[in-house]
This record gives sequence, structure tokens and C-alpha cells, in this order.
Amino acid sequence: MIDPYPPASDIGEILVTTDELRTRVDELGTQIAADLDGRTPLLVGVLKGSVIFIADLMRAIAGPVEIDFMAVSSYGDATESSGVVRIVKDLDGGVAGRDVILVEDIIDSGLTMAYLVDYLSGQGPASLRTCSLLVREGRTAPGVQLDYVGFELPPAFVVGYGLDAGQRYRNLPYIAIYSPSEPSGEGGSDSGGSA
Ligand code: PRP
Repeated sequence: MIDPYPPASDIGEILVTTDELRTRVDELGTQIAADLDGRTPLLVGVLKGSVIFIADLMRAIAGPVEIDFMAVSSYGDATESSGVVRIVKDLDGGVAGRDVILVEDIIDSGLTMAYLVDYLSGQGPASLRTCSLLVREGRTAPGVQLDYVGFELPPAFVVGYGLDAGQRYRNLPYIAIYSPSEPSGEGGSDSGGSA
């Protein structure tokens, strides 16, 4: 895969390479297919960070797969999630009776995942599993079992493979540390990649 930003001075150490991503996503897809044992999963992606991951994950699952998306916005400042989540875009279809897999790019505080698990479990899915490409070392989502995890990450601000810094760098084909040469002041929704 081609790095779309060569040379990008804002990009530091690569923590997860393109090959490592491909291998692990394939493993997760194989595991999900085995666990679902012929039932059709409904993958629910949380916009926007999960889009690259879910696109690859669904192709790694042998057999029928359906997808839907939610978009959420957390109140409070950008660096410390308040745990109060506002649904900006709800599912197009329902989850009642479905085998749902909630797909995130990263568990940081875990509050977004915890809120969405509570929200979706109240709608009567046949089963509800959670999947996150990345999880902070030592973190979890409060009260939530993480069923499928790609990689654990140290507390660094990371970008790539869906994760952004001020909406940029989602299209990097790897996960790398974001180390801006000078403060950008761009703002944007960066909680997914923050330490
Ligand atoms: C990120 C990430 C998760 C959430 C994780 O989203 O995609 O949805 O934050 O944080 P938490 O575990 O502390 O709740 P972000 O708000 O950055 O939006 P984005 O996905 O559109 O980049």
C-alpha cells in the first residue's frame, strides 16, 4: 500500500504496520465467522474512525455479512470524555433478533463503547459482541466485555487506518504516533487517537 503523505513531518513512529494490520484483521474475521457459526452478523460501525477497519473486517468474514453505522458525539472537552454521548446518526435498521457486533477503531476511556452497548442491548439483539481494533494498555470499557481486540496501544496520540488528527491522516495505511512539528490549532475530533 502507498503512504499518501510522504514525507509527513507530523508522523512519528509506526506502531502497527500495514502487514500487521492485514494479518490481525484477517484473524479477527476468521474468529468472528467461527463464533457466529453460520449466522449472519450485523456489524455496527461507529463513525468515522471505524470505516477503514470495518471495510477490511467485513471482507475477512467468510459468508454473508451486513453492516450499519452510528455516529455519536460526546459532550465535554476534547481530551476528557464526559461519558455523556449524543447519538448524531442512529442505525438505519433495527437490531432486534440480530447477532450484532459493535465495531470501534479504539477504546480510549471506553465510555463511548459502554454507552453504545447499553443502548443497543436494550433493543433486543439475539447477541451483542464488541470489537475494537485498538485498546489502550490497561484500559477497558466500564462494564463491557471486549470480545475481539486487534492490538493494545501505549498512551500516545495515534493516527492512521481511520484515526485522525483534526480529520487528517485517516488514510494512512498504518497506525503511527502523531507528533506535530508545531501546534496546528486545528481542533477537530481527536479523542480517538489521544493518549
Ligand atoms: C473516537 C473513537 C471512538 C471514541 C473512543 O471517536 O472513534 O468512537 O473516540 O473514545 P472513548 O473510548 O474515550 O469513548 P472520535 O470522537 O475521535 O470521532 P471519530 O471516530 O469521528 O474520529
